[in-house]
Amino acid sequence: MAWTKVCEKSEIPVGSIKKVWARIGGGIPIAVAHHKNGYVAIPPVCPHLEEPLDESGLVIGCKLTCTKHLWSWNLETLELQDEAELPLKTYDVKVEDDNIMVYVTEQLEYAFDEDDDIDESTFFEDDDDDEW
Ligand code: FES
Repeated sequence: MAWTKVCEKSEIPVGSIKKVWARIGGGIPIAVAHHKNGYVAIPPVCPHLEEPLDESGLVIGCKLTCTKHLWSWNLETLELQDEAELPLKTYDVKVEDDNIMVYVTEQLEYAFDEDDDIDESTFFEDDDDDEW
């Protein structure tokens, strides 16, 4: 395995995240985020409940937030922020000329527990019964 081109720089403006494919084997899906100080390559799903980060991910400054349940990470330090309980897995990434290159030795994946689901209908409800 080696460095492989996944896309051109122009395809991922700063403040965005895009799903790309490493052309290895049958293809390995990767999400590349462009934060204010560089790029991060990660598995394309949220480590919480497998939400596709190219749809639910919001990149502001150096922070990635999954808008589904507000787990966040600092993409520069990879520290967990806000509601996040699990770290991101990362691929090495670099820019070569106008290309985004990712070093892929194997597909990185998270272990999801089928029973670890949450009730979407009550997630954002206020616990108090106070009227506003
Ligand atoms: S699925 Fe991303 S925070 Fe819950």
